[in-house]
Amino acid sequence: MKNPFSYTGIVKGDAFCNRQTEQTDLLKFIKGSQNVLLYSHRRYGKSSLIYQLFKRVQRQRLPIDTLYVELYGTLSEKEFVSAILAGLNQIESRLEKLVNRVKGALTSVKLGMSIDPVTGSPGVAVSFDTGYNETILGDVLGLLDRFSEKRKLMVVFDEFQEIAGYRQEGFEKRLRAIIQQHGNISYFFCGSQRHILTEIFTVQNRAFYKLAQSYPIDKIETRYYVPWARKLFMKRGKKIKAEIIEEIVNRCENHPMYVQQFLFYLWENKDTALSMETVDRIELKILQSSHNEFLNLWESLTINQKKTLKLIIYTDGKDMFYANALQTVDLYAGSQVTRSLDKLLRDDIVLKNADYKIQDVMFKKWIQTFLWK
Ligand SMILES: Nc1ncnc2c1ncn2[C@@H]1O[C@H](COP(=O)(O)OP(=O)(O)O)[C@@H](O)[C@H]1O
Ligand SMILES: [Mg+2]
Repeated sequence: MKNPFSYTGIVKGDAFCNRQTEQTDLLKFIKGSQNVLLYSHRRYGKSSLIYQLFKRVQRQRLPIDTLYVELYGTLSEKEFVSAILAGLNQIESRLEKLVNRVKGALTSVKLGMSIDPVTGSPGVAVSFDTGYNETILGDVLGLLDRFSEKRKLMVVFDEFQEIAGYRQEGFEKRLRAIIQQHGNISYFFCGSQRHILTEIFTVQNRAFYKLAQSYPIDKIETRYYVPWARKLFMKRGKKIKAEIIEEIVNRCENHPMYVQQFLFYLWENKDTALSMETVDRIELKILQSSHNEFLNLWESLTINQKKTLKLIIYTDGKDMFYANALQTVDLYAGSQVTRSLDKLLRDDIVLKNADYKIQDVMFKKWIQTFLWK
């Protein structure tokens, strides 16, 4: 039997754990054509949840069409518009029909057929006749509005924080002005860079202020992981003690991707009796597999930021500003820490609730394992 666990990309079917409350809540917003700002840290499962919602909409035969627009890597308004157009075959799969509909609404854009060189599946190729001009944004979104006249539409902009990098004048304002008029479309703005998204959506003088219902998604609770993982192992006739799964979930601090990665390796493990040593070995393997990524991240930090991370580990994020705590990592002034923390918080490397915390549990363990002197 194929390993059911997966830690890259969207997880579907059996590999998808719970998120029942989220699905119920979000379906209500979709049915009511509300806009949603769906955010979480990276790899918590936003895209997988969206996929799951699409499936639900289909299974329940709701009269709602869905459009998923991946914005990761888009650098300009033109690329934003192209990403929407390239996804339109999700709503109308008959390309000829689609081309005709688009032809009527957009004069300077041409759609053709393309074949994905990797998967071989057909897609939509977009070309602009006379270069890009700003009226195209309105035309393309107007097309979505038109699609939504017959059937409601759910439009997902994944990795929406990318728009913060576009340089086109007034893009946010124009986008908002158009979206606001679409009564039959539920727009989902998804992303992971919290400070960028909150700046876009909650700063009063920004265009998107109060345009969407905010919906943060959290990690998955242990009580859901345990029966889910055990069931998948049982399918292979392998009984795993609840304690082992709990231990794994704890070590990953409930982080969805790391839990999956851990379970993936556990599935591949050939030990006849599973013990904590097995779990230890798998953890080390995970740290090693992320070595390059963590090293790059570490090397991108300033010396004071590095010291601040060590300080957080050393103090467990509490009472960090005491002189004796600072001295353990060769910092001498609280102001050095404050400045470093500002940047680390902005970059989502560190979180602050009551205490400070390194966001990525494996990054923290990696520092402890490989850099702890
Ligand atoms: N509901 C879930 N159940 C189990 N694992 C999940 C779930 N959601 C996400 N994951 C794990 O997290 C990884 C990242 O999920 P993804 O949906 O790409 O997150 P995001 O879009 O937030 O970055 C997946 O590859 C999977 O390993
Ligand atoms: Mg995603």
